[in-house]
Amino acid sequence: MTFSDIVTESKLKTRCMDIVEVLPGDKHYEQFLLFRHNNLRIPLGITSGRGLPDERDNDQCVHLATLNSEKDVVAVCTIRRESNEEFRLFQMAVDESLRRSGTGSAILGAITDRARKAGARGMFCHARTYAVPFYTRNGWTVTGSEFHEVGIPHLPMKVEL
Ligand SMILES: CC(C)(COP(=O)(O)OP(=O)(O)OC[C@H]1O[C@@H](n2cnc3c(N)ncnc32)[C@H](O)[C@@H]1OP(=O)(O)O)[C@@H](O)C(=O)NCCC(=O)NCCS
Repeated sequence: MTFSDIVTESKLKTRCMDIVEVLPGDKHYEQFLLFRHNNLRIPLGITSGRGLPDERDNDQCVHLATLNSEKDVVAVCTIRRESNEEFRLFQMAVDESLRRSGTGSAILGAITDRARKAGARGMFCHARTYAVPFYTRNGWTVTGSEFHEVGIPHLPMKVEL
């Protein structure tokens, strides 16, 4: 099997996965919170808050999760309404074994549709600097200078809807 076959197979697997909305109390919610913790906090050495909601979560949030064929969470992201026209994106993460196979772009596309349908004209985020090429590839632009958050460099980014 060539590298290109592996990438193609991986992209096909991505297409077979479901992207679902997760509400607090749903059967996937606990797994969703653990996935966020394991993929976004643990790599930064943050061990507190395991299985707890993010401090930015509120009733203005929409949480999406990608489920594989075993119904395990393999990608997540959240948007929160900041005003009538603007949403903030945060907690974007894909299981390490599925990265660079289109899984992140698929869930980002789904949450962008949700924001658009809810009347948003734009979204913004604080992107980890190393993840900027992912957002750029999906149509986002850098809007300011680098700053530090949770101990690592970030850049402010936005996308028009
Ligand atoms: C950032 C992240 C969400 C991207 O998800 P993904 O599923 O790997 O992204 P995709 O496969 O949809 O990538 C689409 C394109 O974005 C760009 N891209 C994605 N990850 C990249 C990387 N690490 N370096 C450079 N370009 C990257 C590429 O152009 C890629 O297309 P290609 O694979 O055909 O070259 C994922 O790497 C991740 O979960 N990282 C750890 C958590 C994290 O840092 N989240 C972001 C917080 S701001």
